[in-house]
Amino acid sequence: MPALIVIGSQWGDEGKGKLIDILSSKADFAVRYQGGANAGHTLKVQGEQIIVHLIPSAVFHPQVKCLISGGVVLDLEGLCEEIQSLKKSGKLENDKQLLISDSATLLLDQHKQLDQAREERAEKAKIGTTGKGIGPAYESRASRRALLFSDLFEEDTVLLRKLKEQFKETQYLLKNFYNKEPIPIDQTFEKIKNYREILKAYRCSNMSLLLYQALKQNKKVLFEGAQGALLDLYHGTYPYVTSSSTLAGGVLSACGLAFSPAPKIMAVAKAYSTRVGAGPFPTECPADSFSGRHLQETGQEFGATTGRRRRCGWLDLPALKYAIRLNGAGSLALMKLDVLTGLKEIKVCVAYQIGSKTVEDFPVQLRDLSKVQPVYKSFKAWEEDLSAVQAKEELSALALDYINFISEEVKIPIEIISVGPSRSQTLYLY
Ligand code: GDP
Ligand code: IMO
Ligand code: MG
Repeated sequence: MPALIVIGSQWGDEGKGKLIDILSSKADFAVRYQGGANAGHTLKVQGEQIIVHLIPSAVFHPQVKCLISGGVVLDLEGLCEEIQSLKKSGKLENDKQLLISDSATLLLDQHKQLDQAREERAEKAKIGTTGKGIGPAYESRASRRALLFSDLFEEDTVLLRKLKEQFKETQYLLKNFYNKEPIPIDQTFEKIKNYREILKAYRCSNMSLLLYQALKQNKKVLFEGAQGALLDLYHGTYPYVTSSSTLAGGVLSACGLAFSPAPKIMAVAKAYSTRVGAGPFPTECPADSFSGRHLQETGQEFGATTGRRRRCGWLDLPALKYAIRLNGAGSLALMKLDVLTGLKEIKVCVAYQIGSKTVEDFPVQLRDLSKVQPVYKSFKAWEEDLSAVQAKEELSALALDYINFISEEVKIPIEIISVGPSRSQTLYLY
């Protein structure tokens, strides 16, 4: 198995970080291939918890080379803080463990300012972004004005000139359209040139070639998904999405790889659903209902990046099947099964009612999605604490009913079940 892509199949926060930490024990390379510091991946190892935003979740394994590809938008300040805090706790001791593509896009304070100013102005029509500047940074890239990681290492005069050119319009917009005082470019320049010293050790000039050769030599490469399928720029619940391609297909364009050899693709889903930010969520439970409160509190559903309370609801099978199809996933990891213990009943959405019609396909247009009523199948909940369960056979009969039903419906095997945040709280079904 040379390549494995681990991909979120809901609205993010499925537990990808935990899973990647476990799976990367057998990897040679782990690649963060898209998104930016909007991601927040929580790892819990031997009681120690860390949250990574830009650094790959394989960072606990010193033998794994952690790569950040050209598809990522690099918040330089956040990245340096992350590196320094990891070093303080004894990780990333060897600078050779991390490589950053010279073609990654620089995300600077002006991008964050613009993201936040837009959200503020949008009032009721907010996307609910993380405020980390993701949309504006990808816009810079698409409009061919972005600075790349390699630009950071240009001579001072060149870097300053490029910064001034790139942010001319943004500064104008911030000042004249959003009535904000734009952060002066000289200030940004003085700030980011100090990051060169920390970051120069990690430069990689041709990551696509490096990965091509690694795959050719049968090295084990794990591609780390960030966000989730339903937040994909093209196939998610647009416009309530992020600004990048979050699907497995995004690996190819972000990393400059071709379809061969075919990777193994594992979809990650919670045993229920959550969403942070605005946008349709057909199976959402009211926050003050018994089930809504249970999922939020027992699941500790607070955003790892923004600390926002996550919206919670039931597992949505049409949405999950859609995500599995979009990604070509061959197996599923089902996370946070332990959180369902103690509910009165567990519901699963099996189809949607739109007017008089019942549909099983996830509606791709927001117009249709906003009209759907979920059709639920109800399961009896269990009382047993699952957090110490070590094998499928030890699960209660009711929990087994639930996972067997999901596995039959999605038509791909559930290979991993997670019953707690720690590595040991994991059942391997393959
Ligand atoms: P990611 O963005 O997909 O990596 O997920 P997050 O880290 O944002 O959110 C998942 C949260 O659930 C983290 O706090 C994890 O420590 C936690 N977690 C992961 N797997 C399990 C599990 O099986 N059970 C419980 N109770 N918590 C889990
Ligand atoms: P991980 O990798 C959950 C959501 C935001 C917002 C929308 C757009 O931890 O699963 P953005 O800042 O990207 O422009 O915000 O996308 N979002 C996430 N939600 N987990 C994430 O990442 C997310 N990354 C972005 O909440 O709704
Ligand atoms: Mg997260």
